[in-house]
Amino acid sequence: MTGAELEKARAEILALRREIDKYNYQYHVMDQPLIVDQLFDHLMRKLQELEKTYPELQDPDSPTRRVGGEALPTFTTLEHRIPMLGLENAFSETELTDFDARVRKLAGNDAVEYFCELKMDGLAVSLQYEHGLFTRGSTRGDGYRGEDITQNLRTIRQIPLRLTEPLDLEVRGEVYINRKDFDILNRQREDQGLPLFANPRNTAAGSLRQLDPRLAAARPLRIFLYGLGEHNLSLTGQSELLVRLEKLRLPVNPNREICLGIEAVWQYCQKWQGNRPKLPYETDGIVVKMNSLELQKQLGSTARSPRWAIAYKYPPEEKMTKILEIQVNVGSTGAITPVALLEPISLSGTSVQRASLHNEDFIAEKEIMIGDTVVVRKAGEIIPEILRVIREKRTGDEEVYMMPRQCPSCRSETVRLSGEAARRCLNPSCPALLVEKLVHFASRRAMDIEGMGPAMAELVYSHGLVHDVGDLFYLEAIQLAELPRVAAKSAEKLIEAIERSKNNPLRRLLFGLGIRLVGEKAARLLAERFITLERLGQAGTEELTALAEIGPKIAESVVSFLHTAETKPVLDKLREAGVNFTEPAVCTATANLAGKTFVFSGSLEQYSRDEAAARVENKGGKVSSSISRNTNYLVVGDEPGSKLARARELDVEIIKESRFKEMIE
Ligand code: IVH
Repeated sequence: MTGAELEKARAEILALRREIDKYNYQYHVMDQPLIVDQLFDHLMRKLQELEKTYPELQDPDSPTRRVGGEALPTFTTLEHRIPMLGLENAFSETELTDFDARVRKLAGNDAVEYFCELKMDGLAVSLQYEHGLFTRGSTRGDGYRGEDITQNLRTIRQIPLRLTEPLDLEVRGEVYINRKDFDILNRQREDQGLPLFANPRNTAAGSLRQLDPRLAAARPLRIFLYGLGEHNLSLTGQSELLVRLEKLRLPVNPNREICLGIEAVWQYCQKWQGNRPKLPYETDGIVVKMNSLELQKQLGSTARSPRWAIAYKYPPEEKMTKILEIQVNVGSTGAITPVALLEPISLSGTSVQRASLHNEDFIAEKEIMIGDTVVVRKAGEIIPEILRVIREKRTGDEEVYMMPRQCPSCRSETVRLSGEAARRCLNPSCPALLVEKLVHFASRRAMDIEGMGPAMAELVYSHGLVHDVGDLFYLEAIQLAELPRVAAKSAEKLIEAIERSKNNPLRRLLFGLGIRLVGEKAARLLAERFITLERLGQAGTEELTALAEIGPKIAESVVSFLHTAETKPVLDKLREAGVNFTEPAVCTATANLAGKTFVFSGSLEQYSRDEAAARVENKGGKVSSSISRNTNYLVVGDEPGSKLARARELDVEIIKESRFKEMIE
């Protein structure tokens, strides 16, 4: 290859990159595609080929290199040299006016020039540019340190890998997903039999936390920038800042306004409350900032939030709809839950068609009838909740609903145990219950067996391949591939996922077994305390309730589960299949107490001695009963004894329960 040839290739590559960057920007940021997709793909391929032929001309900032690199083993963290603060919230006009009064008192009494922006409902991130090149990006984390998610952020085509000027700059903003893209994504997942995502926000957050950047690249992530970290731009106001960011080709939300005085701010809030459904993305409020950067600096921040800004949060969206029907679900513990099927409505960005009615008391208390018009809202923005019935809308055709006295699946009689709100099917071999148990066992937070969702669980159960969770581990790919609508490839993948799940720590298994009252937290505590299933099996209720957070009801439920005749064969199958029954005592990622020796004195508020000891051991530390020169920490509780004086003598570090808690959590 001659020098001239290389120079020619270099020029061509640079021109192509510039052209592609331009088209990317017009398409992804300006929403104004300049060329058809095929032509764009053609240019990308041409660039890829040239870069392959001339590897010496490769460049990490080439548009061909957005999705690159290997999956990470874990995320490392990055420090925010200027903390990423949160915002204080206002939920009413009065709270906004109070904010304004505080601001005016601090800044002089004139009407303040505010700058209003939409509050994007996504995930805050920080982007670091060095000499105009995107070098690092992180999540907000605890505000002081965030996770290094550079690889994933690079896949967002709206983020320029190179700014239009060679600046050193940290910009901050929000990663989000458009409602429409979210719906498409969920439809694709439905087709593939994958569990659906709950809402755009969580999906955006989850996508950024994928260790494999190829997964993040497949999600329709977008970003708006609205602030700065470290920088040396000379600017006077927030409004000017956003214009400057736009010039650098960073995506900025065009819906923003300068408002003179708090009344104008309130009007802006109301205008957008009405216009919210028209936006392509979710907003949960308006961020109100003082426009003057000088005044912002003057007012400063508290440890948690700036004094010069506030977030006005919209009340949760409420809508009316009709109850078409009431169905019941049998859960993995046999609880029968009534569910209202609703005339579909769109609420905070997702389509709502069902809402839990919890139990018969809830139905009676709200006087809910089939055919009623009801007001629905999203509790915590995720779970739809029925608030009340609109009596005026009744026509006389509504029907009273009675909870079934027979289990809808196995027809055995349902019972309401004393002290419980739920009606239950107590038949341990009820098919609905068994399928639910399988689904729960395989769910993400339990054994995390991808591909074993409700449809597959129903399929393997109804074809007699699986009767309990133990049978899952004896399935073979050929058997699965013979089932209707199961491709050979997905059968193999499912078997691999089942195989992988054998290595899960005990806490996941315990949670997955669906022991009544044992949620994720109790499962974790039990696993950490007893380390093996065998040891847990030997414990009586007394030993269990010694754990601060395990009450007598949970303890009883655990003991009775582990000792009923039905449980043994299931556990035998799991054991023989090689499913892990232990909690890794020292898991390297969390073994931050390795080599440290603790001594306790006095009684702790939140932990029994046993539990405190188990937790220390679980993190790789040791517990000793007396102070020596080898002791690293003395944890003192109420009324510490003579050990305190001894620790002082030997210069052993003395810590309180609160600090101890931080170390072991
Ligand atoms: S300014 C110190 N502007 O809301 C100022 N934040 O509740 C910090 N957010 O952590 C943020 N849209 O994740 C700002 N236009 C906007 C925003 C916004 C969404 C988020 C951000 C922040 C959270 C605070």
